[in-house]
Amino acid sequence: MARESESGLPIEPVYGPAAQAGWDPAVELGEPGAYPFTRGVYPTMYTGRPWTMRQYAGFGTAAESNARYRQLIAHGTTGLSVAFDLPTQMGHDSDAPIAHGEVGKVGVAIDSIDDMRVLFGGIPLDEVSTSMTINAPAALLLLLYQLVAEEQGVSADRLTGTVQNDVLKEYIARGTYIFPPKPSLRLTADIFRYCRAGLPKWNTISISGYHMAEAGASPAQEIAFTLADGIEYVRAAVASGMDVDDFAPRLSFFFVARTTLLEEAAKFRAARRIWARVMKEDFGARDPRSWMLRFHTQTAGVQLTAQQPEVNLVRVAVQALAAVLGGTQSLHTNAFDEAIALPTDKSARLALRTQQVLAYETDVTATVDPLAGSYAVERLTDDLEAATLDLMRKVEDLGGAVAAIERGFQKGEIERNAYRIAQETDAGDRVVVGVNRFQLDEEEPYEPLRVDPAIEARQAERLAALRAGRDRGAVDSALAALRKAAEGEDNVLYPMKEALRARATVGEVCGALREVWGTYVPSDTF
Ligand code: 3HC
Repeated sequence: MARESESGLPIEPVYGPAAQAGWDPAVELGEPGAYPFTRGVYPTMYTGRPWTMRQYAGFGTAAESNARYRQLIAHGTTGLSVAFDLPTQMGHDSDAPIAHGEVGKVGVAIDSIDDMRVLFGGIPLDEVSTSMTINAPAALLLLLYQLVAEEQGVSADRLTGTVQNDVLKEYIARGTYIFPPKPSLRLTADIFRYCRAGLPKWNTISISGYHMAEAGASPAQEIAFTLADGIEYVRAAVASGMDVDDFAPRLSFFFVARTTLLEEAAKFRAARRIWARVMKEDFGARDPRSWMLRFHTQTAGVQLTAQQPEVNLVRVAVQALAAVLGGTQSLHTNAFDEAIALPTDKSARLALRTQQVLAYETDVTATVDPLAGSYAVERLTDDLEAATLDLMRKVEDLGGAVAAIERGFQKGEIERNAYRIAQETDAGDRVVVGVNRFQLDEEEPYEPLRVDPAIEARQAERLAALRAGRDRGAVDSALAALRKAAEGEDNVLYPMKEALRARATVGEVCGALREVWGTYVPSDTF
């Protein structure tokens, strides 16, 4: 009797040659580093270089986060990944009334160039690649990063990193949007064009399925809705007058890794093959780098349990292995205590060590795409590809990702799948070790890390000092120039950079854009 995969696909108890009847490996697989990239985007993959160990981190003030980044670098992390607090992600200053209680909580508070300078103090920006999980204000944080690099004497063409810059999934699953879809897509295209001109090594977007998965999306939904978002961004950039090969090589993606290892590895392989064909055949991209789906993975936060938190170490190790067997370029492993609170120094170190064991103690980096040719994985890859393409066609039939979002289609599909998962868990049909089976009579005590509530007051003082110490006239004229660009067609990043250089705050810059573009009001689903 076949079991059902997370995507509702059959997983047979035994596979044999019949699973691949009429299947030509030369067509379906190809070679590693070659179209359609099923086996990975680079010919040598981890035999040449392990994936980037990129731990998402950030909390409190810039000084506290800077200390955590320097610790992670000392422990061997090979890429930085900045978590911003919600006021920053929503374009508000730390002393705005709406920010009360959130300053420095789920990430670092960044209000101005002064804070960005502290965040990267002592970290040479020509020697690290930095990912920034920032969406609606992605342009601002990219420019602040560039301005601080300039102060370090590092030119923009040497900067490597990524801004998430994926507002469509914010409308679907995560919620940190500001502007309506049209100006948001314009801003995305402005970032593509700005980076094309001045930051050639910067990855301009991280089209994300992670948050949809965390909201309950199945692997097929995660891939389908993410690639549909990707198609929408490509269309917007082409419609703005760019040639597809001018920006597509610097698109990147971000997915989850669940404990269902076989389906997850198959998911990544199917996603690469679909994207390669979409870019080459539908958009006519000629540059092979435009066909490559390069992605970051984070282990599934939603699968972490507060009960018996140490068990999460095992879950994260399996999830990380799934990402590696699936060919990820960059990986974040969750800390075992994240279902309870922010990671402690020790749990953050353990999360990184999990990756180092996979990279340096196992043999999964000895050969490229070791699961290739497996009856089960290749069958799952093919079935997932078919299920994903079906869902992508449904989104296309609704008019594309934005039109489907405005009808609440993706959100509705994900919520229905989340409800199914919850029902199966409550019924005990879906085992969660420590939660609905193998529980302890009494949970052992655990002392989590707590964020100092005085942070908000300290940030407000920094903002007061900044406002008192800057040239108000220069700020006002820079903001006026920004509003004028937003009202017209010019790329807003150029006047935006001058406003930030003049020490305009994140709230003031986003406020100027809100005045021109308004803010997004979600449609109701269900
Ligand atoms: N052979 C040849 N070259 C290789 C190679 C190999 N085996 N391996 C790597 N390289 C080269 C690459 O070509 C690249 O050079 P290039 O930039 O000139 O092409 C360089 O080495 C670096 O390799 P990658 O680009 O593969 O790895 P990076 O780590 O630099 O980039 C990425 C990976 C996915 C493309 C990038 O977009 C990235 O780092 N993304 C991270 C996104 C992220 O961290 N997001 C966090 C989200 S957390 C969140 O959302 C919040 C919470 O709610 C979860």
